[in-house]
Amino acid sequence: MHFGANMSSTQGSEPSHEDHMERPDTRRRWEALGWGVPIPTTRTALPERHYLDLSPLGMHEEQRARLNRAFTCFTCELFIHFEGYVIAYLERYPGKIRGLSRPMVQRFIHEEQIHSEMFRKLLHHLDPVRYPEEQALLRYLRWEATDDLALRVAPVGAFFLLAWLFEEITLFVPQVIDEARESCDPLVVGVMRLHAREELPHVALDGLVLAHLVREIPRWQAAMHTALALPLLAYVDRKVRGAWKRLVDEESSRLGLTERQRKGLLHRGPSWSDRLGMASFTEKLQESELPGAKLVGWVLRQELRRHG
Ligand SMILES: [Fe+2]
Ligand SMILES: [Fe+2]
Repeated sequence: MHFGANMSSTQGSEPSHEDHMERPDTRRRWEALGWGVPIPTTRTALPERHYLDLSPLGMHEEQRARLNRAFTCFTCELFIHFEGYVIAYLERYPGKIRGLSRPMVQRFIHEEQIHSEMFRKLLHHLDPVRYPEEQALLRYLRWEATDDLALRVAPVGAFFLLAWLFEEITLFVPQVIDEARESCDPLVVGVMRLHAREELPHVALDGLVLAHLVREIPRWQAAMHTALALPLLAYVDRKVRGAWKRLVDEESSRLGLTERQRKGLLHRGPSWSDRLGMASFTEKLQESELPGAKLVGWVLRQELRRHG
């Protein structure tokens, strides 16, 4: 069921219990991607436009290719970090989560763990020097005590609303790829497509948790949950900006970029999939019966407008 649409009219599309039992073939699907083929370092891995068009910054081809590799690694790190949030919340606070059966929760955790593992593997393939093993530490996004605190204080409605937003964004990565398919590495394409396919049922699970919450608690309380997604989003946004600044500073000195080029990278605005995912999410919030959803939608739309 998709919570963004009219709740009562979408009851028929609820995922079945069986759909959410753990499937042993999940790992096999991931293993079947072309992991044996090296990713050439001289070409782009994800479309350059995903983060920003570098042509006005006057860089040469090699600089652009190296930045593209670092940007693709950044995307992998983002996914690993956000999936870490989902795994931690599901594992630490099972009592807060209602509306999902135990097998559904277990499968949710299992799939996110596999995704996280596969994005780590992809990091190693993209840059074996900086990520010398598949369990190498992330370079830009580090888990901090504030992340634990954010999860501890996040009400279930706020958390799953944000999980839905981030999952919605990942669904648009294949669309970004399809618009500039020739500039993508086949392994990266395979990973992003399979991930998006497996994220679709997660969006449905987020919807189940939110729908159950609305049935269970008074409307004013549900509106509080929704509104508290905003400070949580602000926290995450700040964290991602800090990580991006680390990347930009590191790459600027590694590639000898000018101050103008460094600033151009720093103030990039939302990525292409962020824009598409946020636009789709706000449209769904517009039709949603979740109390406070229109406020969150309005804030996100302002944010999109601010970046043109
Ligand atoms: Fe995932
Ligand atoms: Fe997910």
